[in-house]
Amino acid sequence: MSYKDISHVYLKHMHQLSTMASAPPLTRTDSARGEFSPLKHFVVAKKKISDVFEQLLRYVTETSEFVEETCGNKALERIASLDQKLEIQSYADKLAVIKEVLARRHMKVAFFGRTSNGKSTVINAMLRDRVLPSGIGHTTNCFLSVEGTDDDKAYLKTEGSDEEMSIKTVNQLAHALHMDESLDAGCLVRVFWPKTKCALLRDDLVLVDSPGTDVTSQLDSWIDKFCLDADVFVLVANSESTLMNTEKHFFHKVNERLSKPNIFILNNRWDASANEPEYMEDVRKQHTDRCVNFLVEELKVVDREQAPNRIFFVSAKEVLNSRMQRAQGMPETGGALAEGFQERLKEFQSFERRFEECISQSAVKTKFEQHTIRAKQITEKVKSIMDAINIEAAEKRVAALEERENQMDRLEFVKNQLNLLIDDIKKKIKAISENVESKVSSAMGEEICRLHVIVDEFHADFHPSPHVLKIYKSELLAHVEAGMGKNLAFRCSNAVNASVQSSQQYMIESMVPLLPSTVKTQVHMLVPSRKFDLSYDLNCATLCSDFQENIEFQFSLGWTALVHRFLGSDNAQKFVVAQASRPALPVACTPSSGPPSTMSQPNHEKALMTNEDLMVAMATNVASLTSRTSMSVLVVGGVVWKTVGWRLIALSASLYGMLYLYERVTWTTKAKERALKRQFVDYATEKLQLIVSFTSSNCSHQVQQEMATTFARLCQQVDQTQKDLEAEIRQLTATIDQLETVQRCSKSLRHKATELEKQLEAFSQQYLQPQQ
Ligand code: GTP
Ligand code: MG
Repeated sequence: MSYKDISHVYLKHMHQLSTMASAPPLTRTDSARGEFSPLKHFVVAKKKISDVFEQLLRYVTETSEFVEETCGNKALERIASLDQKLEIQSYADKLAVIKEVLARRHMKVAFFGRTSNGKSTVINAMLRDRVLPSGIGHTTNCFLSVEGTDDDKAYLKTEGSDEEMSIKTVNQLAHALHMDESLDAGCLVRVFWPKTKCALLRDDLVLVDSPGTDVTSQLDSWIDKFCLDADVFVLVANSESTLMNTEKHFFHKVNERLSKPNIFILNNRWDASANEPEYMEDVRKQHTDRCVNFLVEELKVVDREQAPNRIFFVSAKEVLNSRMQRAQGMPETGGALAEGFQERLKEFQSFERRFEECISQSAVKTKFEQHTIRAKQITEKVKSIMDAINIEAAEKRVAALEERENQMDRLEFVKNQLNLLIDDIKKKIKAISENVESKVSSAMGEEICRLHVIVDEFHADFHPSPHVLKIYKSELLAHVEAGMGKNLAFRCSNAVNASVQSSQQYMIESMVPLLPSTVKTQVHMLVPSRKFDLSYDLNCATLCSDFQENIEFQFSLGWTALVHRFLGSDNAQKFVVAQASRPALPVACTPSSGPPSTMSQPNHEKALMTNEDLMVAMATNVASLTSRTSMSVLVVGGVVWKTVGWRLIALSASLYGMLYLYERVTWTTKAKERALKRQFVDYATEKLQLIVSFTSSNCSHQVQQEMATTFARLCQQVDQTQKDLEAEIRQLTATIDQLETVQRCSKSLRHKATELEKQLEAFSQQYLQPQQ
């Protein structure tokens, strides 16, 4: 037999296929078999495990998205790691691959045996149709697999090509097979047979036909290529002869490569035994013993008790014939080849049932067990990642809650403490300002009393000329300003500075606990870096701008001087003004008393003082005469006048004249300077006294200002602290919410994983536990 033979037989069969398209597709027995077929076990298991994988893939994808989202969220740092994300993604990829593999999973049975033992006929009998070529001699030249297709028409696919060769092109295929010498016994031709025509194929069963084991030397490559994923092997033996070594040899090799392969032995052509019924039992026993021995002793693939369930005596040709007869509506006994047809048919059916039970059990285990274990591992891993994320999120949430509680307490504390401090520090500032005010006021009082010392210390060129006088006075003013400023600073500044500094220090110390630690270290930046210095700002130049000295010579017993002496300077002034309204008398102007404003606006009413008033004033002032030289002379003169008469008058006159002369001579530049200084001291004393309260309150204001500025800066900082705390609390609240969401999600994903684990466990229990 050659490829040409295959092609011819195929052409014949394909022709039958096309003619059968109009025939009823399935018999009643067929559909009944289909419903209760043990193969359904595999089909259902496959559907179940595929469903679980579908859910698992969706679940892992969802989990992967969740972890990715958590990983990418900055606020949820370190809750989910990049490694976890990558790990879950890799699981998703693996599951997708497994899902694909599962979808392609099917049960596979491979038929082996010597040439012409009837392998192809057995397959056809099982498929209930002449699908595969069979005939006398070496028919099957290469491996042929038969699997179901959802298409209505059968087609072929040769190895290495995706081209579907339809029935119309079978001629060409036959030609190609015939011409192509590269095709050998190790090649595979896939036959796709409509599922609608055969229940077996609907149940994911693939049947593989092989060339005779006696015609090849490539057993090892056959095993590698076609046997490693086979769930069941059927050894089709010829009951007319005994089990041959070539057959045994092949199964020994299979047994070496696979652990406990499922092997069935069909002693085919059993119809021939009907020719010699007297030996039938003996032959059957002999074959059975040899087969049992082969399976149990040699291959050790099955127990002795189980072995008879793997050995059958059948007639494939007869079964095929009868089934085809039946399919065409004829009695099935029409296909009988010899006596005992019903028993042989039953035995074939019993083989089919045992085979289906075995292959579906075995295939479920071999095809799904590893994937189920892998799925369990993946679920376990994902679950543990969810656990880790859940624990991490829970810990972070507890920490965030504590942190928020602390921050809220701190905010409350800062608010309360600030209110208390504001009152306290306000009082402190008030006390310090008052203290400064009284200190500056008393220091100024003392300095004013000592003004003459400062004035006396002043030395400059003095000359009564107006130009020199002007310069002299301005320098004197500057000297007084500087001197007083220095003395005041000496008396007050250190103490004031110290108390300002200590108060600032107190403020800082009280406020520092309310500031954030980052600001605490830089708190000195909040206090003005310059040293606080009181500015007394006496402004002597403006204050004394109206000072007008009187350094004209004045005889101490002269008219004006006497008036002054008797009336006091105030009355003398009034008198002088009164006199001025009458014919003028030459009187020296002494604007040394009263503020300049009073000087510039003479009071008209006062100016009209009567002479009687003046006399009263004079009489009052007489009592206050001192023992100064000129006055003594006057008294003495009066007494002497009564006793001594005109001589004494003359003496007095000469004394008066000498006194005048003496005073005139001693009225030098120095005396003029002294007079000016004295007049200035009087003038400035009065002026400065006027500004004592103003200056001291100005100083107190400066201190108050300084303290208030520092306090305001600190308060501003505390405000900022409060704002920062509030912002942090808001941020923490948001983080807590996010963490709660993560916890919720991870928990629900964990539950889903547990749910899937249950499903996988149930699947294991139902399908993967060893059968009793
Ligand atoms: P190769 O493909 O050549 O390896 O042979 P094979 O094992 O496939 O045998 P095949 O099915 O082609 O059958 C060979 C011949 O035996 C055919 O003519 C069948 O009709 C015949 N035959 C198969 N089974 C039986 C049977 O049970 N009884 C009888 N009497 N003849 C059978
Ligand atoms: Mg064959």
